[in-house]
Amino acid sequence: DPPVTVSFVPSGRRGTVPAGTTVLDAARALGVDVDSVCGGRGLCGRCQVTLGERPGLPADPGRLSPPSLPETGYAGRRPLAPGHRLACAAQVLADVVVDVPEASQVHRQVVRKEAGRPDVAVDPVLRLHYVELPEPILEQPTGDAERLAAALAAEWGLADVRPDHHVLVALQPALDAGHREVTVAVRDGREVVAVWPGLRDAAHGVAVDVGSTTLAAHLCDLASGAVLASAGRMNPQIAYGEDLMSRVSYAMLEPGGAARLTAAVREALAGLVVTLCEDAGISPEDVLELTMVGNPVMHHLVLGLDPTRLGSAPFALATSGAVTVAASTLGLGVHRGARVYLPPCVAGHVGADAAAMVLAEGPHRSDALLLCVDVGTNAEIVLGDRHRVLAASSPTGPAFEGAQISGGRRAAPGAVERVRIDRATYEPRVRVIGVDAWSDEPEFARRSRRAGVTGICGSGIIEAVAELYLAGVVGSDGTIRPVDSARMVPEGRTWGYRLWEDPEIVVRQADVRAVQLAKAALQAGCRLLLDRAGVDEVDEVRLTGAFGSHIDPLYAAVLGLVPDCDLDRIRSVGNSAGRGSLMVLLSAAARREVEEVTGRVEKVETAVEPRFQEHFVAALGFPHGTFPSPHLAS
Ligand code: FES
Repeated sequence: DPPVTVSFVPSGRRGTVPAGTTVLDAARALGVDVDSVCGGRGLCGRCQVTLGERPGLPADPGRLSPPSLPETGYAGRRPLAPGHRLACAAQVLADVVVDVPEASQVHRQVVRKEAGRPDVAVDPVLRLHYVELPEPILEQPTGDAERLAAALAAEWGLADVRPDHHVLVALQPALDAGHREVTVAVRDGREVVAVWPGLRDAAHGVAVDVGSTTLAAHLCDLASGAVLASAGRMNPQIAYGEDLMSRVSYAMLEPGGAARLTAAVREALAGLVVTLCEDAGISPEDVLELTMVGNPVMHHLVLGLDPTRLGSAPFALATSGAVTVAASTLGLGVHRGARVYLPPCVAGHVGADAAAMVLAEGPHRSDALLLCVDVGTNAEIVLGDRHRVLAASSPTGPAFEGAQISGGRRAAPGAVERVRIDRATYEPRVRVIGVDAWSDEPEFARRSRRAGVTGICGSGIIEAVAELYLAGVVGSDGTIRPVDSARMVPEGRTWGYRLWEDPEIVVRQADVRAVQLAKAALQAGCRLLLDRAGVDEVDEVRLTGAFGSHIDPLYAAVLGLVPDCDLDRIRSVGNSAGRGSLMVLLSAAARREVEEVTGRVEKVETAVEPRFQEHFVAALGFPHGTFPSPHLAS
């Protein structure tokens, strides 16, 4: 057959093949990324392409063979869109341009609405391969597992695959049921982790952010990267201790305490997977891969590792490297062959969540100097650019989560989350989670009837204290002053400010102090990293985490939570650790990247740095003592 030229877009690859070659074979010969599960048998519909064009080469359908079987009879799960051809069936008859749409590429960009930017190029950790195995015959006493390995090597170029034990158990029944046709899931191009009779073309994964307060998870299609369901729930370990150190103490002091904490979080994770699967209409059996990120204590407890050494210096981790374990070890109730991947921990109390934040925010890919802060009961702080990345954690305590604050609540419907205080009358206006109106708007009363007002959450107390400071009710040393307002409540030798009547929410002196301690710890941690980097300013501040992403940058700046910088350079960027967890779920390249960058992050230990205390004391005032704040003059 005479040679013809095939050009692929968007890859730009071009080469000659004999006329009559299928588009899929041409793509493979030229190293073009075209997806396939069925190996070119016209079954899976993953290989769909369209005719492209370039000057002198119009999109003439006659350049490809006319549709015939299997295309004309194709009735798979992915219907052939008008103008689409199966690359495995269409043959190249003349010089042609072939367009491989994003949906037919193995490595594709996933853009999520929330982030508004490509999060990750999918580079599947786990792929499905359909194979047909020859019938066993007496003359060839090879085992079926070896026939499977030979087929995977011949058709998919996978040398040296190793089936799990449970795959050995399931292989022959699957071959019988599928009439010698099976689909296998191969992880890392090596481990055969699942086998099903016939063609199977979907594999799912779950990415989890194991927070000390909240567990948040996404269920994804591992091939497309599409998020099919998202869910969250409280971490039930809270029953054993509000913050991390109290849970470590529980593990240390109570016989069987660590095991109880481990069992509680694993059970909740299994429940979360069930919820996600119900929402997406799949079975937990369909989940083949999971990723989890968390601070070192969560990381150790999920894995069943003793967290007690993380309670004091030198904060010795049982392992700082990336970990892969069988999901069955953790009792997650998913497919028997599923694995759980946890990225490395940065240090003894800067965990895999900080590593995931680094991956997601990418200071190591940035020319600008970024300060990324995940604000929670413990703040993870990362400062860096493409030359150097530093990380620390700072014990901010539970105030930012609304705990140990009078009237404090977690961020849930009914909690006050936004506060404005009139500078002249001292009268407040509030917004409440779940009620889409300010309290002085007519619709507030009607809309708030269902949720009611329950208390004040972390971002609410931040705004309340900042607004009280701006209104002159709280002085720069944090003392509440008795201004001329019926809202002032005498409380012994101090004063409180009544923010809400029913139920009564009073901002007390102790609450202002709690916010001062938390923000000073955060500011001091940031300052230590700036010292270590030898700089005074950063180019951009990114606030992340369930709480961090909820803080209005203005109030973060007013209180001095983070180093002073122009307001337009402080951004709330959503849950970075969760996004990092999603990235490592979808991409082997992202796993390599997080492992590489974590290895070179420089750890700064706040607990033993003498200057931490100095910075802490200096940062107690409002806006703060360390950074004069010209940006806030107005
Ligand atoms: Fe499966 Fe073409 S490769 S239908």
